[in-house]
Amino acid sequence: MQLISLIVNGRPVTITADRDTPLLDILRNHLGLLGTKFGCGQEQCGCCMVLIDDHPEKSCGKPLSTVAGKAITTIEGLGTPDRPHPLQQAFLDEQAGQCGYCLSGILISAKALLDRNLAPSRAEIAAALDNNICRCGTHVRILRAVERAAARLREGAAR
Ligand code: FES
Ligand code: FES
Repeated sequence: MQLISLIVNGRPVTITADRDTPLLDILRNHLGLLGTKFGCGQEQCGCCMVLIDDHPEKSCGKPLSTVAGKAITTIEGLGTPDRPHPLQQAFLDEQAGQCGYCLSGILISAKALLDRNLAPSRAEIAAALDNNICRCGTHVRILRAVERAAARLREGAAR
């Protein structure tokens, strides 16, 4: 067991756990942040994507010791039901989810894209979501939702 400190959704936390514990387990089981999902557990599906120092990474295979001192953002850090992030609102507006299981990972990947590029082409959006699988096949609505969010964020930036 080891004491490891990190920052989760802007708040410093200290965890006592085995250094090899996957970050996903820490988020869900130690911190109660259930928005990040367990899908394959083999770094293949993207359900467990979080931002680590603003970079999208799969948390199911990320040992706790490798994120010591880093800033982690989960879906809970994006927005709230009362104040959704523009991406979350756009996904609602486009009805982009079906079962919704993949969406927290997809929203995290999309946020990383829009943080660096507010005017991505459809091909750039598809490439940014390449590590996320949606088993329901709502890909076209997901692409439209990211485009809608980007347009909304551009409008906000222009004001
Ligand atoms: S659960 Fe991590 S990539 Fe599938
Ligand atoms: S909406 Fe069901 S897996 Fe994507």
